[in-house]
Amino acid sequence: MEKIYLKNYRAPDFTIENIKLEFDLDENKTTVINRMTVKKNTSTADLELNGEKIELVSIELNGRKLNSSEYKLNEELLTLKNTPTEFELKITTCLNPKENTELSGLYYSGGFLCTQCEAEGFRRITYFLDRPDVMTKFHVTLRADKKKFPVLLSNGNRLDSKDIGDGRHQIEWEDPFKKPSYLFALVAGDLGEIRDEFQSLSHRKINLEIYAPHGKQNLCHHAMRSLKKAMKWDEERFGLEYDLDDYMIVAIDDFNMGAMENKGLNIFNSRLVLADENTATDLDFHHIESVVGHEYFHNWTGNRVTLRDWFHLSLKEGLTVFRDQEFSADMTDPGIQRINDVSDLRERQFIEDAGPSAHPVRPESCYSVDNFYTATIYEKGSEIIRMMSTMVGHSGFRKGMDTYFSRHDGHAVTIEDYIQSIAEPNKKDWQQFRSWYSQAGTPTVTVYESYDEAKKEYHLNLEQFCAPSQSQPEKKPFHIPLSFELFGPNGHVFDIHTDKISRNSEGQKLIELKENSMSLTFTDIPSRPVLSLLRQFSAPINLKWSRPDKDLFFLMTKDTDGFNRREAAMSLGLNFLKKALQDIRQGKTPDPDAAFIEAYQVILNDKLLSPAFKALMLELPSENILIQKEEIFDAANFLKVRQWAGPYLGQKFAPQLEKIYHEFSNSESKIYDFTSAGRRKLKNSTLLTWVLSGQPAALLSAVNQYKEAKNMTDRVASLYALSQTESSHFDELLEHFRNTWKHDGLVMNKWFSLQSVSCRKDTYQRVQNLLNHSEFSIKNPNNVYAVLRSFIGNASVCHSTHGNVYEFLVDQILKVDQFNPQVASRICGIFDHYAKMPLPQKVQLKLQAERALKHPKLSKNVRELIEPVLLL
Ligand code: TRP
Ligand code: ZN
Repeated sequence: MEKIYLKNYRAPDFTIENIKLEFDLDENKTTVINRMTVKKNTSTADLELNGEKIELVSIELNGRKLNSSEYKLNEELLTLKNTPTEFELKITTCLNPKENTELSGLYYSGGFLCTQCEAEGFRRITYFLDRPDVMTKFHVTLRADKKKFPVLLSNGNRLDSKDIGDGRHQIEWEDPFKKPSYLFALVAGDLGEIRDEFQSLSHRKINLEIYAPHGKQNLCHHAMRSLKKAMKWDEERFGLEYDLDDYMIVAIDDFNMGAMENKGLNIFNSRLVLADENTATDLDFHHIESVVGHEYFHNWTGNRVTLRDWFHLSLKEGLTVFRDQEFSADMTDPGIQRINDVSDLRERQFIEDAGPSAHPVRPESCYSVDNFYTATIYEKGSEIIRMMSTMVGHSGFRKGMDTYFSRHDGHAVTIEDYIQSIAEPNKKDWQQFRSWYSQAGTPTVTVYESYDEAKKEYHLNLEQFCAPSQSQPEKKPFHIPLSFELFGPNGHVFDIHTDKISRNSEGQKLIELKENSMSLTFTDIPSRPVLSLLRQFSAPINLKWSRPDKDLFFLMTKDTDGFNRREAAMSLGLNFLKKALQDIRQGKTPDPDAAFIEAYQVILNDKLLSPAFKALMLELPSENILIQKEEIFDAANFLKVRQWAGPYLGQKFAPQLEKIYHEFSNSESKIYDFTSAGRRKLKNSTLLTWVLSGQPAALLSAVNQYKEAKNMTDRVASLYALSQTESSHFDELLEHFRNTWKHDGLVMNKWFSLQSVSCRKDTYQRVQNLLNHSEFSIKNPNNVYAVLRSFIGNASVCHSTHGNVYEFLVDQILKVDQFNPQVASRICGIFDHYAKMPLPQKVQLKLQAERALKHPKLSKNVRELIEPVLLL
């Protein structure tokens, strides 16, 4: 298996100015004629075109057909020697979309033909220089049966369309912008659509079209509203306007990932387009808005300015995640958005960064480019952009972004180019800051503080450390921006006197930790202050800081930064769980931590908190967070904590929970909007804790809520609550749910995952049965994720299951791997916590890893993820 390296990058020897593609589309056999104008940039090079799993029919150079001795063909490359400096190449290939199970290239899903070319799918359509630094103008002709495929879409502008006899028709498309091949797309099928329009900043009319199967058009309106909001937001925030006359989105059922930003023709997993209150939850609505935004924002960050090579994937993904997070913050509530984004980062990226597949945000080598689509490249990449934005401030960041576009529009560039564009106009050096891109791992900053009553001085000492990771035994110190305030006893902030801090363009105070350690002295502090550090989570790090409960309590109620208020509540919650875990490990019934109980009481009774914020304040740290804070992941004990903590709170606070539940269950709109979603969130989180008490009244309320629900959020919430109990109502309601929704594949995914995330005794048994369920298809990525990824994420249950659970899961990985390696590699999470497992589990896991690696047809995608386990 061959590894590719960043350091081996070479500029392309050839450029392809123009490509004309003609498709004769059919689900069983599609023929592609590819005419390219090719230019040689060096005198000696051979032309090596990528191509994979396609049949070469013929090849012509400057109109002359080549015989097989004039080129070399293997499984991955078509090589032409001694080409002229400038020439026309005509290549005819054919392929079978129906047999394309990898869902990469041109494939068939639910009666439609569609493409997915990122990262290296275009080579499964025709021979080409399939790399992002080769940018080409595309002209596309699509021909197909008019009845089966009345709608024929590709990138750019619609030119001609006409009937061509035999019941077939043809449509021509031209994209005026040069683009890399990974942004090519086509869609063909009998699709329904909704249309709308957008007046752009410079008063151009943009036609907006969203395509979905007939009968589903009425589920596209939320996506359309989201698109218009995103277009407006990008104009206002970054001065960026859309550049074509049409913008199209298509919803497809079988899709490996969330969505794809193909120029002018986004293709979406249908779960991220189709929604109404009856079938989608508030969270689904929120995700749709954010992903529609994400793909739209790629038009500038990704498409207009693209990547030199895949090692720089975070250039577009980190930046575009940052942009979509900012968009969501402006559409909802910035404080709550930040809390949720950080939770997501910690739950997924911090685990990745501490496990066998840790890698830098700009990786230096890989086997499979597909494996780059990670939480590290996306979410940590976004955090790095956010740190830059924090250090230069809002207006400084805008100046940097303007510089980026004016320098690099129309080019394929690197992360280094991006950093330069932000740093230069803001007069930053950021030499050291770059190590965020090259070093893997999450740094920990240890905090020591003391107050000198006599001198009225406050001393702060910070030390950073980052554990070694594979191929990086030692790490250089990171440049860490820490936003902070010092609070006085009444909740006002103290003036700061020290020369060791910096301020951004908005005057926000920052401590920039650059050395291994740093000492700060703040003078004229009249009384012992309470430090609020890492406000807004200004850097992707862990803090190690033992604070007195009374400080946490103070910050929880008085901090002016919502993020840190919630952090304080989380720290108290974490102490509560850690203490319980300790007791359970010693065979004792947990003796609850008093500070947390008091805090919980205070929050429950707080009438001033917004419902959405209150729900977040009442949450306990999740299992995946607790695992990170412990040395050992002994799953059975973690499960015991989970089965003790919720019920304990439920019983202790039943009357208050019941009261809040009822207060919020009436008088609410069933329609999705941020405020009513927040009320539902609080209602449903109190329902959950109350249900965990096991009180019959609570169970009855859950059942009634399900029966009377007017929206999917409430239905799923009551089922979820019951899934965390042994109540027989769970099965009853599940049965009802299945009968109601069995014809709706998207809704059935909820039915699957509700069972996989359960902590009932029969969860593993259920998971096994679900794979044989008549509505389940292992070929559908959403189904696989709903059952298997949900179960693997249910860590205490998954890893405390006795018997052959690892063997079963590796069997599933291997099974999926035989037809879709991209999906298989996304269900390899069982190895995430390997290093923290007790020995018996390690042995079992290792055996299964070895078994997988011996499989004769293991993909490089899965191999790359499992191999590091053996080195631990
Ligand atoms: N670029 C897509 C995004 O917006 C990611 C993506 C969609 C993708 N489909 C894919 C990546 C298939 C790899 C393979 O984030
Ligand atoms: Zn993206």
